[in-house]
Amino acid sequence: MGEAILKINNLNSYYGKSHVLQEVSLTVNSLERVAVLGRNGMGKSTLLKSILRLQDIKVEGDVLFKGETLNQAKTYEIAKKGIAYVPQGWLLFPSLSVEEHLLVAYRPGKSKAKEWNPERIFELFPEIAARRKVSGTKLSGGEQQILAIGRALVSNPEILLMDEPSEGISTMVIDRVIDLCHQLTEQGISILIVEQNLELALRVAQRVYVLVNGRIVYEGTAEDFRADKESQHQFLGV
Ligand SMILES: Nc1ncnc2c1ncn2[C@@H]1O[C@H](COP(=O)(O)OP(=O)(O)OP(=O)(O)O)[C@@H](O)[C@H]1O
Ligand SMILES: [Mg+2]
Repeated sequence: MGEAILKINNLNSYYGKSHVLQEVSLTVNSLERVAVLGRNGMGKSTLLKSILRLQDIKVEGDVLFKGETLNQAKTYEIAKKGIAYVPQGWLLFPSLSVEEHLLVAYRPGKSKAKEWNPERIFELFPEIAARRKVSGTKLSGGEQQILAIGRALVSNPEILLMDEPSEGISTMVIDRVIDLCHQLTEQGISILIVEQNLELALRVAQRVYVLVNGRIVYEGTAEDFRADKESQHQFLGV
């Protein structure tokens, strides 16, 4: 496994006076799949939004992408550098068709042969290809999740940030998302996923972190965490 593609050092995030993330440090190595687990309201979405500088979050601490600081970068600049985002709840547009979601987000990859483009997404996910002219928000939950992932992939990122991909989708679609994550790292895309769903996180990730009240309370291999029922119970209540 290579060097860090994403490194977060001592991150503190605030909504106004509310101090949500506290001294969070984590690393995603190149071509690694990392999951951050946590129950409701523990700060998972805030972590991804802080990396992307979304919304009105005040962020202190360092975010490094391939060794380069993102501290002063704007959201669109961060996206252009190669960080893609699949938001919680998908955030699709009722006024855009399935196809238009992909066309709007498409940014050619370095290699035409290996790039993610709308046609490649449609080949991989025939169920949304069949509905390419339909409004994105008219799809089922699983199809919207797939479209949101497709929209992120056609920007041809180096790392994919996914916020609770298990939410609102069937176990069948969950299995496909897990398979896809494994394929993506084989094809050069690193993954950082935030999740409540322990099983999905453990099946996707090689390493996990656990957030409780905005702090990292556990860091280890997915294998160790799977065996550590006591920590699972203590930190996730399962
Ligand atoms: N825009 C906001 N303004 C103020 N407080 C917020 C805002 N968004 C989130 N919070 C608070 O920050 C904390 C962390 O929220 P966050 O959405 O990051 O949690 P989460 O782990 O993603 O939860 P979930 O599993 O429900 O998605 C919570 O206490 C939440 O109420
Ligand atoms: Mg969330």
